[in-house]
Amino acid sequence: MNIILLGPPGAGKGTQARQIEKNRGLVQLSTGDMLRAAVAAGTEVGLKAKLVMEAGGLVSDDIVIGIISDRIDEPDCANGFILDGFPRTLAQAAALEELLKAKGKALNAVIEIRVDDDKLVERITGRFTCGACGEGYHDTFRPPKVENVCDNCGASDFKRRADDNEETLRSRLLAYYKETSPLIGYYFAKDNLVSLDGMVAMSDVTVKIETILNDRA
Ligand code: AP5
Repeated sequence: MNIILLGPPGAGKGTQARQIEKNRGLVQLSTGDMLRAAVAAGTEVGLKAKLVMEAGGLVSDDIVIGIISDRIDEPDCANGFILDGFPRTLAQAAALEELLKAKGKALNAVIEIRVDDDKLVERITGRFTCGACGEGYHDTFRPPKVENVCDNCGASDFKRRADDNEETLRSRLLAYYKETSPLIGYYFAKDNLVSLDGMVAMSDVTVKIETILNDRA
């Protein structure tokens, strides 16, 4: 099963992708994580992406389409994947359609997670992750059970993203509304879209997604 999680920054795409990965064994493919890894490694792609990401803009279509095309060919994607943060433009959506067709794969569902804009600021500015295992946390909504210790791996090395500040978030939101939100209409017209309320508790969002995936299996 291959799915897309669609939604603005902070909607909960990464949080839910990690849950689906645990529950169903699908692979989370986050272009944001892949680009951050390229930036950290100082690769050619990373050098091109760094300034754009820091400013809250979108990295070029060619770069992200190339990354995804290579990644979905890897053996761990054979049983299915969750696209988290891709596609983000109509050109990326069209390229994905071609890629899937050429590789003989189908798209089972596009799940839009809806969250009010003022909540996104609160979610993004309170977010942090475990530097060792990547587990996601929030100052208010999901603090670690023991202060400063990761629930998942026990490490005490937490990180905050450079673009998780209110000013950059506003640029990221602008990019979302200008470039990515047209995909909602695009996938609705293709009869692939399911929208859900992302304002409820994380576990309730997970239950809704599981119901959708069961219906589409
Ligand atoms: P990316 O890493 O994809 O960031 P994003 O889309 O801005 O999404 P986020 O990761 O910020 O949010 P999320 O929806 O995953 O929320 P999360 O689950 O963490 O992209 C970063 C940058 O890379 C882009 O700006 C761009 O420059 C570049 N890029 C990436 N892909 C690209 C592409 N395809 N094309 C071009 N450029 C690309 O949740 C947020 C917080 O809220 C967490 O702390 C979480 O604990 C909490 N939370 C989650 N759900 C709930 C809930 N239900 N209730 C309460 N709190 C919740």
